[in-house]
Amino acid sequence: MSETRGARPIRWAMVGGGRGSQIGYIHRSAALRDRRFDLVAGAFDIDHARGASFGAELGLDPARCYPDFAALFAGEAARADGIEAVSVATPNSTHFAICRAALEHGLHVVCEKPLCFTVAEAEALQRLAAERGRVLGVTYGYSGYGTIEQARAMVAAGELGEIRLVNLQFAHGFHSTAVEADNPAIRWRVDPRFAGPSYVLGDLATHPLYLSEVICPELKIRRLLCARQSFVKSRAPLEDNAVTLMEYEGGAFGTVWTSAVNAGAIHSQKVRIVGSRASLEWWDERPNQLSFEVQGEPARALERGMSYLHPEALAGDHISVGHPEGLFESWSVLYGRFAAAMRATDRGDAAALAGLRYPDVAAGVAGVRWVENCVRSADAGGVWVDYR
Ligand SMILES: NC(=O)c1ccc[n+]([C@@H]2O[C@H](COP(=O)([O-])OP(=O)(O)OC[C@H]3O[C@@H](n4cnc5c(N)ncnc54)[C@H](O)[C@@H]3O)[C@@H](O)[C@H]2O)c1
Repeated sequence: MSETRGARPIRWAMVGGGRGSQIGYIHRSAALRDRRFDLVAGAFDIDHARGASFGAELGLDPARCYPDFAALFAGEAARADGIEAVSVATPNSTHFAICRAALEHGLHVVCEKPLCFTVAEAEALQRLAAERGRVLGVTYGYSGYGTIEQARAMVAAGELGEIRLVNLQFAHGFHSTAVEADNPAIRWRVDPRFAGPSYVLGDLATHPLYLSEVICPELKIRRLLCARQSFVKSRAPLEDNAVTLMEYEGGAFGTVWTSAVNAGAIHSQKVRIVGSRASLEWWDERPNQLSFEVQGEPARALERGMSYLHPEALAGDHISVGHPEGLFESWSVLYGRFAAAMRATDRGDAAALAGLRYPDVAAGVAGVRWVENCVRSADAGGVWVDYR
């Protein structure tokens, strides 16, 4: 899964992710690591003047700091040294139009989650990416951790026994009151015009859901039941808390608790996989450890970077054991895989592509599908719905 070293950086731009945005900085930190990408252009901000001054701060040519994504793609297409890839880090409502335009311009794309609002839109992007032969990656940013690779390898090797339960949560407490009143970066998240059909289901729960898909790829949801609440009433119809039950094909069972009103909690993103013999638990606030709990034995904390781990868990390691890694390393591993996929696609290297796993457009579609099913169940009164 390693990238091709020695290749020149991919000419790259960003849409969104401007000064003060929550997620722009980590995109740049991850992409620019080891010069896999070179940031040469952008439409960083909804406010052009602010975006242009930010681009200048980043050292970009002012002529390549564009007022919006349409001008960016057209302007860059007209240059011999135009961009080859773009990352989209704008509010959810804009993802579909920006990704479609980027793919139509022949660009590789990395898009924020949730990919878009509906399965129909997500599948349209999937078809377009296939037709144009372009990569469309999605930043499920926690999936680059070696401890997640370790969990996947342990499940595959049968070290847990038969998988019975998948217990997921991402439940923070930062929006326990109506903080959006004074904060535009939170306000759009609770407004369906910008956030889409859900708040915490799409914004938070899709993260541990994707991790569970990576760790337990065999599990397929058969039906689910979701109940969602708006404890801060002004957020209705969007939820700030939701509980989902999932029946998988073959009898395993899953639960997902997601919340922005879990008062006192920091992130509380946890993935617990329970097998007939043992369980694994991963917590994003302590991502360097993976708890391995065999029935009848003391629990073990498996440490990142140790030689007793499966080789897959060591492949993306940046620094020797003992030094803690964090979210920036996880994202950097992902951007390394995005770059490898883009380069392999460009040179038509099907074998290299087959050996790469990263959150791709199919993962983006899967997240949108899950949210759509949850909302369908919740809005029918919290009933079981067949997964479709
Ligand atoms: N992967 C993750 O872990 C993670 C974490 C946080 C946010 N996100 C996602 O990232 C996206 C952005 O979230 P955020 O928290 O950074 O939002 P934010 O509100 O903090 O920042 C959004 C940025 O996009 C710019 N922008 C808005 N509309 C634009 C447009 N049409 N063209 C160009 N720029 C535009 C804004 O000016 C701002 O700079 C969302 O989809 C969100 O769900 C993902």
